This record gives sequence, C-alpha cells and structure tokens, in this order.
Amino acid sequence: MKKVIFILGVITTINVHAQLPQLGKAAIKEVISSMTLEEKAQMVNGASTNGYDSTSKLLISQAKNLVPGAAGITTPIPRLGITSAVLSDGPAGLRIKPKRPNSDATFYCTGFPVATLLAATWNKDLVQNVGAAMGNETLEYGADVLLAPGMNIQRNLLNGRNFEYYSEDPLLAGKTAAAFVRGVQSQGVGTSIKHFACNNQETNRHQTNAIVSQRALRELYLKNFEIAVKESNPWTVMTSYNKLNGRYTSETPVLINTILRNEWGFKGMVMSDWHGGSNPIDQMLAGNDLLEPGRKIDYDTLLKSLKSGKLAVSVVDKNIERILEMVQKTPRFTGYIPSNKPDLKAHALVTRQSATEGLVLLKNEKQALPLKSSLKNVALFGVYSYDLFTAGGTGSGDVNKAYVVNLQQGFANANIPLETNFVAMYSKYIGDSMPFIKKSKEIKGWQRTYHLPELLPTEIDLKASAANSDIAIITFGRNSGEGSDRIINYDFVLTDGEKKLLTDVSNAFHKAGKKVVVILNICGVIETASWKNLPDAILVAWQPGQEGGNSIVDVLKGIENPSGKLPVTFPVNYEEVPSAKNFPSEYATEVDATKDKKRNVDYTKYEEGIYVGYRHYSTFGKTVSYPFGYGLSYTSFKYGNLKVTTKGDDIIATLTITNTGKVAGKEVAELYITAPKGKLDKPKYELKAFTKTKLLQPSESQTIELIFHKSDLASFDESSSSWVADAGDYKISVGASVEDIRTKVVYNLPEKWEKKVKGW
Ligand code: BGC
Repeated sequence: MKKVIFILGVITTINVHAQLPQLGKAAIKEVISSMTLEEKAQMVNGASTNGYDSTSKLLISQAKNLVPGAAGITTPIPRLGITSAVLSDGPAGLRIKPKRPNSDATFYCTGFPVATLLAATWNKDLVQNVGAAMGNETLEYGADVLLAPGMNIQRNLLNGRNFEYYSEDPLLAGKTAAAFVRGVQSQGVGTSIKHFACNNQETNRHQTNAIVSQRALRELYLKNFEIAVKESNPWTVMTSYNKLNGRYTSETPVLINTILRNEWGFKGMVMSDWHGGSNPIDQMLAGNDLLEPGRKIDYDTLLKSLKSGKLAVSVVDKNIERILEMVQKTPRFTGYIPSNKPDLKAHALVTRQSATEGLVLLKNEKQALPLKSSLKNVALFGVYSYDLFTAGGTGSGDVNKAYVVNLQQGFANANIPLETNFVAMYSKYIGDSMPFIKKSKEIKGWQRTYHLPELLPTEIDLKASAANSDIAIITFGRNSGEGSDRIINYDFVLTDGEKKLLTDVSNAFHKAGKKVVVILNICGVIETASWKNLPDAILVAWQPGQEGGNSIVDVLKGIENPSGKLPVTFPVNYEEVPSAKNFPSEYATEVDATKDKKRNVDYTKYEEGIYVGYRHYSTFGKTVSYPFGYGLSYTSFKYGNLKVTTKGDDIIATLTITNTGKVAGKEVAELYITAPKGKLDKPKYELKAFTKTKLLQPSESQTIELIFHKSDLASFDESSSSWVADAGDYKISVGASVEDIRTKVVYNLPEKWEKKVKGW
C-alpha cells in the first residue's frame, strides 16, 4: 500500500512540474522567467551554499553526493527540470574519491602524464587521444565537466603549478590545449580552460596583482586562451584567482565580455576559480556567470541586490542563460547512465604509450642509450627510482589512481635485473622514512612535499656495484603543487647529497668503464648546467603518469624512440630567468616601501614584457643549458629545403624530412619567424607553427606542411590598440630547436596588415 502512495506522490509531483516550463522543452528564457529571485541567486552560485530553504537544502545535499570527491556542482531546480552539472578536476585525469561509503566498488581514475609532458610531445593527435580517454572516464564516472586543461604560460620556472601547465610559449600552449579540449569534449562532456588569466604564481594567489603590459597580455598571456577558444570551443572558461592590472579577473568586464566573448566569439559559460574574487555583483556584471563552489555570503549579497534593484535582474538572467545552456549539454541532463566502469586497462595503455612521446632526451654521449640487449644488470640509484617516484603533482592536479609503476617495477616488468644489494638498501631506507613522509604530508597538506635526503652508498659498495652491474641509472625527483611556489634551493638546484651521489656514482662507474644515466622525474625545470657533464645520458621523464616506470623503461630499452622536445627552456642559472627579479621567491628582494615588505607578494610586475622564455634568451644572446624545442632521438633527421607558398591569407611552408639514422623515429619540426625592423621591438624568434612527422623508418621521408596565417606575423601595438604586421621581409626558419635552425627562407609581406581591437 505504502508503495502505491509513494508512486502516486511522484506522479503528482511530475504533473505539477509539467505545468511549469521545463529545461530542454521550453525556451531557456521562459524557464528563467519562472525562477524566483532566491532561485536565481542560488543558480549563479555553486550548490555548496547549502540551499536557501529546506527543500533546496535537501536537494543540494543529495546533489553533492552525485560524484563523491568532485570539486563542485551547479544548483538543481527539479521543478523546472534543471539538473546539476558535476564539475571535477583536473589536468592529469579525473580527480574523484576512489572509495565510497557503503560500497565495495572502487572508483579509481587513470593518472595520465602531466600537462608539461603532454606539451613536450608536440603531438596534437596524441594529446587529443589522451583527452578522449580522460573525457571517457569523466563520462563513465558521472561527472559532466572536467576542470582542465590548465594552460597558463610558464612565466617563471618556480611556479608550483607549472606541471599543470603546458609551456612558456603561447602557440604551443594554445594548440596543445585545443587538442586536449577536442579530445575530452568528443566524449560528450565539457572542459574548463583555466586559469584566465595570468595565474603565473602560487604565492599569495588570492591577492596578488599581476601588472602586465597590454602587449605582453595580447601576445602571450591571452594568446594561448585565444587559440584554444577559437580552435576547440570549450564549454567553459575558469577565471583566475589573481588581480590583473588592479582588478580581480573574475570582476573585469573587458577581459570576459569584451575580449573573450565579443572579440574571440566565446559562446560558453564562465566560472570563477574556487572562492575566487571578492565582489559577486561585479562578477555578475563582468560576465563571470557562475561562482564556485558557492558561498552563503555571496548568495545573500546577490539576493539583496536583486531585491533592491542594485543589481539588475536582466544581468543575472543572462548569466543563468549561459549556465543553463551548459547544463542542457551535460550527460546528466540528457539522461546518460554512467557505468562507473571505464576501461582502465585500455587507458593504462594510453598513458604508457603517450608518456613515452613526451620524454626528452637531453644528452646521449657515445650512444649510452638505448640499453644494450646484452645488458645483464642495472644498478638503480636515487630514492625517486623507488617508492618516491612521482606520477603527477599534488593539489587539484592530482589523481586518485589505483597504482603507480615506479622505475624499479618498470625494470622488473621488462625482466631487466637490478642489483639486489641496492634494492634492499633503498627499500629499507624509504620504508624507515615513510612515517616522516606521511607525517609531513599531513602537516603540510598540498602545500609542500617532503624532501627525503639521498641515500649515499659507501665507496666500497659503489666499487663493487660498478664491477657487478652493466650500467648505473640515477633518478632525481621534484614534486610541487597548488598553493605554494618552488624555491631555488632544493627545488631548482640539486642538493649537496644529490650532487655527491651523482659524482660518486659517475666516478666509480666511469672508472670501471661503465655508463651512467640520469632520469629527471620532475614537476618543472631544474638546474642542469653545473652537473650535466658528469653522466653519459640524461632523460627528462617529467611526471609521466601511473605507468611511468614502464614508459621510461620502454624508452631506455629503445622499444620507443624518444621524440619529445622541451616546451620550456632550461636556463644556466636562476638569475638568467627574465622574471627572476619579479617573482616572489626568496630571490626577489624588491621592497614595497609603503608596506615595508621584503617580498613583492602583493603585486608582480611583469617587467620582462614579451621577453619570456626563449624570446628573451634568443633575442639577448644568452647561453642556456638546453634550449626551447630541444630533444635528441636515437636516430637522426635531415631537413630538406624550405619552400613557402600562400593560399589566401595562409602562409604554407613545405619541406621534406628524412630519417638518416638506423632506427625508426619521429621528428618535430618547429617554424619560427623573425620580423623585419619596424616601430616595435621584436623577439629574434617566435614560434608560429610546428608539426610532428609520422614514425619514419630508416631512409624514409615525409613532406610536411607548416601552415600559419598572415595575422600571425603581427605584434600588438599598444599606441593604436591594434595588431600590426609591417610590410617587408620576414625570415622563416624551420629547425629542430630554437637554436638548431636547419633551413630558412624569406617571405615578403607586400602590404602592412593591421587589425584594430577594443582597448582594455
Ligand atoms: C584550483 C582550480 C581547481 C579548483 C577546484 C582551485 O583551488 O585553483 O584549478 O579546478 O580548485 O578543485
């Protein structure tokens, strides 16, 4: 009997609702006009405000459990047919809770390679595939929008979140992000490109004011977002925490309404970063439609302002329209039933294979790599070769994965024996240190990672090891995450212990005629100039995802030929970094006289302007340790002569690349332009196109096209608020890195090209 009553109750409810305009059936504007002011104030706030009355409180508490561990949800209003959209991190894979109360099932997600590694592949198809796998997990675990990709410019190597970001170059970052978005969204779920814009440091990220010239903004910090918006139509954009030229980005109409929407044609929804900004009214007016995760105080302010007329209802109606357009597209709204069983085995293969293409071989003297097939025994050093190996960074860029294959396990899986003596020593050392590591994680949370000092084997042990094993492999690791920046001492330079380990191992092994390989399991750029002469080979593995140990061993063995290239410069020292004096590290000593502060944490002047990364080093003739775009292969490539033709406003550079070595491999060709002398100063080189060949067999050639647009020749002239490309001769150079140009041609732009845009 009870059952019948319940069913009747549901039917009655549905009938009542059916008389109201329902999302998906009625026009969105009609649905909005049926909302109360309370519902409107709630709708523009993420549902963590807990609801404004008892019914909505209940609904919201149910919605919060839709996908445990998701970062946020939008407000459900069932009487108008409005479902919640579940928003979940992040850039290296879906971040949800792996276990749920009252369930034996597990909800692990694949830990894919970090963003910097994906950019290092320079392979848009590969990035799109990885995005599709992440999108599929998002769909199958019931989330609607993946809060990724992170795509801020890596302005300074100490930024704690650089691993979540792609590159120091806007074209590489923009194209990689676009490929990622296309992949994720091919699965019917959304993305949120973030953090718009200039979230280039973690120190004081909620308060800092980025002071950036219009030119640097347009050419670097907005350019990457512009490319991603125009080429991939992300469902949503997430504004950043910081202020930009005096205002919070989420409160800046010119950024969101004028540039993103009117100029670039963005049609989607804009959300704040979690608790970002300070004034909800200004956020609504600026076109920041949704405040996440939602605060009671913002709900109260908005409701009061809507009631008093301080905030026009029409403004919020527009914000809600964009939120509902997004909700309507979500799998939850369209009735998709998630399986909670994505194909994790297939995705493990995707991460294993994709990671190999982003590994960057920095050095390989006398063909130290690949490992010889006759190899019998490897001596494996460094705590990061073992349990400290990191698959990804910390914070919202982390993923709750089922396992991580470290390097020790990677060798075991490949049946390559390790010298057992060291395996035992490391396992005891790390085991004994685990309580400290765990404790430190508890105390420091996301903020910092524990630095376990290196184990230093005795001279006798090393001598024996050099006699017994065929090669030494040492892994150095660094980890970081949201909430704090890295520091020079330790995060950038090797510690004394690490240097000693490298020196001792190199001495012992070289004396015995054996080679030494260094693997860098790093979240960002480290100092290499002072020690790179010691080992025979250096391989940057970044943070390669949960199959990392397997991916690295695949490359060490030569099953996969490394084809990654650096998406960021490795400078000789920190002082050479163009933003070194304007980054709030312990190195920055600028004194804010009004506040008597030793660190410039309240604001950051982007004094280097457009001269970020290689734009600085190449223009001012600075020697670097490893240049932008650099990476070796186990084979070699010949670049044929470059030809340039035009088609409409497209400029097409064509050349043939031939594999001249003995093994199959892929090559990345990078196209840089050098502008003629004109009114504005220009960097010596600017990347304007790139492509990666297919896997070329020995002697095989491929003719590639590198296409860019006439407008890509332009720089931003602040005095006229316009993009300008002067008429004249542009040098077009194609090479294997910014310092290894193989072929050049001159292209003449017969007439000045100009496009005016609305000023800031
Ligand atoms: C991060 C965002 C993330 C959000 C939700 C914030 O702290 O800056 O990148 O998407 O949290 O977890």
